[in-house]
Amino acid sequence: MKSYDIAVLGGDGIGPEVVAEECKVLAVVATRFNLRLNFTEYNLGGERFLRTGELLPESVLTELRGHDAILLGALGTPGVPVGVLERGIILALRTRLDQYVNVRPVRLLPGVTSPVADITTDRCDMIVLRENIEGLYGGAGGISYRGTPAEVATQESVNTYFGVERLVRVGFERAQVRDGRLTMFHKTNVLGYAGSLWTRVVDELAEEFSDVQVDYVNIDAACLYLVTQPERFDVIVTDSMFGDIITDLGAAVTGGIGLAPSASLSPSSEMPGSFEPIHGSAPDIAGKGIANPIGAILAGGLCLADLGEVEAAQMVEEAVVAVLSLGEETLNQTEPPPTAEIGDLVAAVAERLEL
Ligand code: IPM
Ligand code: MG
Repeated sequence: MKSYDIAVLGGDGIGPEVVAEECKVLAVVATRFNLRLNFTEYNLGGERFLRTGELLPESVLTELRGHDAILLGALGTPGVPVGVLERGIILALRTRLDQYVNVRPVRLLPGVTSPVADITTDRCDMIVLRENIEGLYGGAGGISYRGTPAEVATQESVNTYFGVERLVRVGFERAQVRDGRLTMFHKTNVLGYAGSLWTRVVDELAEEFSDVQVDYVNIDAACLYLVTQPERFDVIVTDSMFGDIITDLGAAVTGGIGLAPSASLSPSSEMPGSFEPIHGSAPDIAGKGIANPIGAILAGGLCLADLGEVEAAQMVEEAVVAVLSLGEETLNQTEPPPTAEIGDLVAAVAERLEL
């Protein structure tokens, strides 16, 4: 029996609630595929920080490295200063585990209605590969003369050839097994230095991957096309900041942030990936049991796919689609439908689904 060690970091707010449903579904699917998933919970997040001052202790990081995957819920607690959990846990995990690829599918699933009137499932199926460590997210910059009229703040986008090349390479590899099309989003007409490096990397790799069709779109125009012509895109490569923004837009177009999953991966190392819904901790609805667990459940599917359990991953996705296709009437008998009820429904479908 194949066995995987999975670290579970529910985090703050609705994080633990949605991750519980994710684990419920993964457990059912694992049984069907004769896999053993060993879940170990870790308590990280705002509550622990406020209590102990700890963010991501080295000892925890070392233990996480020993796992096959990490399931994240969400981080964010009122009372914790802005940026502390983001830099201290979320970005620290991505950097210290060298998770340089952030994979974000932007796909309209059957059973979901896009808020954009004529977007149908066949028109919207892409993945965004977001560079996850560098660019503006690298954190370079500083403040001089703070609090004086002469104050200067710089926030620099740092792009290394090494970092961009390894991300874009994954993009080409993914394009080869998808529809064979890769688009780079950037703002090369204004951000000339970073833009030049990104363009040269894409052009160089385009020669190596001659079976992939390459395109470039300015990030502002990309916002337009994502809404008006989503079929234009198959695999997108972009930097951390543009990728952050465009994937929220992608989530909106494909039915909302509650449905969207994300995977931070380190394909060239042995480090575990992190799998999470892209939504935040939503403290306003925490503890009410009404958060939508679908984004988290789909993140569990991305996790299985990354572990090489492709059929099991497919089963998670198909079970989710089956539940989404039950339609609003069934799901909204109570409004919004309870977190656990959706998890139970997906788990029940997964129990009897034939692929
Ligand atoms: C995301 C989030 C994070 C990011 C924040 C919380 C640091 O917005 O995963 O998209 O900007 O990457
Ligand atoms: Mg974001």
